[in-house]
Amino acid sequence: MIIAIDGPAASGKGTLARKLAEHFDLPHLDTGLSYRGVAYALLEDGAPLDDPALAKAAANAIDLVALDRDLLSAHEVGEAASKIAVMSEVRRILVEKQRAFAGNKRGAILDGRDIGTVVCPEADVKLYVTASAEARAARRFLEAGEKGSGATRAQILEDIVRRDERDTGRADSPLRPAEDAHLLDTSEMSIEQAFEAALGIIEDVSRAS
Ligand code: DC
Repeated sequence: MIIAIDGPAASGKGTLARKLAEHFDLPHLDTGLSYRGVAYALLEDGAPLDDPALAKAAANAIDLVALDRDLLSAHEVGEAASKIAVMSEVRRILVEKQRAFAGNKRGAILDGRDIGTVVCPEADVKLYVTASAEARAARRFLEAGEKGSGATRAQILEDIVRRDERDTGRADSPLRPAEDAHLLDTSEMSIEQAFEAALGIIEDVSRAS
């Protein structure tokens, strides 16, 4: 079984993907980390973020399953990732690696922006997880408070709106729901409720096939 989970930043798709992977005992790939890994390598080298040759070399060097979530979770790495994610050459290299992961005999769960549309268009179940920009900003604000970051809620909302524009507006593989994706709006849901709702969708799809 391949489960594709897409959605905007802070929609809860990553947490949901991890919980589903544990529940179904399936390998899980957070494809946002692929783009973050490339961005991090460039930032570390002090390299520009808009040089396709350098970005391609960094993408080729990446081992998708060896990426360190904690190291790559910083806000500026996410911002840089969203900038390098507009480069088609980088996407082609990373998508190929992501497809190899999805080819696992046991199946897999992948989450990102273009899983249902580009990486795994044949996925058995596609979820498009979303939430209002305000709800997503409120979640990030809480997380930021726990980490001691001084960002205001308004700044976080502004960042989220800008990231959405970049992710949905790029020419190559923009963020959008696949035609056969099941929409899951988590604005008013807890993590547990979103998990139960996703399980319900997956079970319905499995019964129907
Ligand atoms: O989900 P995230 O915040 O870790 O993703 C960081 C950036 O990577 C996101 O703004 C856009 C890009 N990305 C992408 O273009 N395609 C994916 N499948 C996953 C992430």
